[in-house]
Formats: sequence, structure tokens, C-alpha cells
Amino acid sequence: MSLLPALQTRYAVKKFNPAATISRAQLELLLEALRLAPTSFNLQPFRLVQVIDPAVRERIRSEAAFHQPQVTEASLLFVLAAETNVDERTIARSIDLAAAIRNVPRSSLEARENQIKGFVMSFPPEQRLAWAQRQAYIALGVLVSAAAEAKIDVSSMEGFVPDKVDAILGLSEKLLRSTVLVAVGVHSEDDEFAHLAKVRKPIEQIFQVL
Ligand SMILES: Cc1cc2nc3c(=O)[nH]c(=O)nc-3n(C[C@H](O)[C@H](O)[C@H](O)COP(=O)(O)O)c2cc1C
Repeated sequence: MSLLPALQTRYAVKKFNPAATISRAQLELLLEALRLAPTSFNLQPFRLVQVIDPAVRERIRSEAAFHQPQVTEASLLFVLAAETNVDERTIARSIDLAAAIRNVPRSSLEARENQIKGFVMSFPPEQRLAWAQRQAYIALGVLVSAAAEAKIDVSSMEGFVPDKVDAILGLSEKLLRSTVLVAVGVHSEDDEFAHLAKVRKPIEQIFQVL
């Protein structure tokens, strides 16, 4: 399906079919879309963490995510988590990668490295985390769009308590902050949201020429 019809027909699934599964190929498509998402300075300061253990998913649902059923009923559950330790080493690694992939001397990228450091390191740590989370949201948008195109159902959820999810999964020790839950699967035939008209502002309220 091409992108616009896919965006017109996709929706935020509230009720998944717990018996329906997502294939390895479908998962890989979503991961590749996430990987290719653009981010500021190309730093990609996030991880997509898959939660496999059903008991852990149940804990997230009941202790942290306000009992949202998508957490346990979708085929797959992910936590999109932002890195809490974006620093000069993050930037240096990104420059290393660019030099290797583009086969250019690292020294040719040093001005760029210093420019990125000047921008990112001027933020205090909490603003740096907020910045990393914004990058994660860009990746979420790309993942959701790719899923729509491939007719894979997704539910993005901010309705959870990040401190609780971080504690359940031990994310703080991994220098990660849970940002969005992403449930992926196949919607249930009786999900009433599947049949609702799409509600969006008219374009005049979104687009403006000044
Ligand atoms: C970042 C984000 C967080 C969301 N959090 C929740 C959530 O916690 N629970 C929920 O039921 N829906 C959640 N939604 C779904 C939105 O409510 C939904 O996308 C919006 O109402 C538009 O509907 P549509 O996606 O079906 O077109 C979230 C969506 C996004 C993008």
C-alpha cells in the first residue's frame, strides 16, 4: 500500500487479537524503518527494547501502564527508550561510524564533530535527555508509517509511568529512559476503533503561510 492511503486507513489499535502473531520478516521491516529514521546530527540516541517475558508484560500493564490491554495482548511489545548519557563519546562514536562507512579520514569530520559537541553539550543533562526523547519520537513516526504501509497494526502508548517501567526493566542501569510503549500485532475484529472515521484538523489549521 502506498503511504497516503496507508495513513488514511491505519489507526491506533486498542484491541489486539492475542492469537495473531507478527512474522520475523515483518519485525525486520519495522526495525529497518526505525534504523533509517532521520535524527538530529544523525546521533540516533535511543534503543528499541523488546519485552518478551509474558509475566513482565503483565507487570508493565498492571503496575505501570494503567491496565492498557495492548501491553499484553499484542503479538510484540517494545519500549522505545531514550539514552540518558548522550555525551562527547556518543558524538565521537557517530563520527567514527560516518568516517568508516563513507571511507573518509576521520580528521576530515573533526569540524563537524566539534560543531555537534558545541550544540549538544551546551544543554544541561535533563535537556539533553529531552532532546534524545524528541529524536525517539521521530523514529516512532517513521516506524508507525512503515507499519501502516506494510499493514502491520501498531499502538503507541504514552499512557504509562516511566519510572515504573524503568524499574521493572532495569532501564536506568542501562542508561535508558522509557519514552513510548509500542505494541505491534494484528487488531481484533471487534476492536470498535477499527471502524471509526479518522478525526483530524482541516489543513488550514495545520498549514499556514506567513
Ligand atoms: C506518542 C503517542 C502516544 C499515545 N498514547 C496512547 C495511549 O497511551 N493509549 C492509547 O490508547 N492511545 C494512545 N495513543 C493513540 C492516539 O490517541 C491516537 O494516535 C490519536 O487519537 C489519533 O488516532 P489514530 O492514530 O487512530 O488516527 C498515542 C499516540 C501517540 C502517537
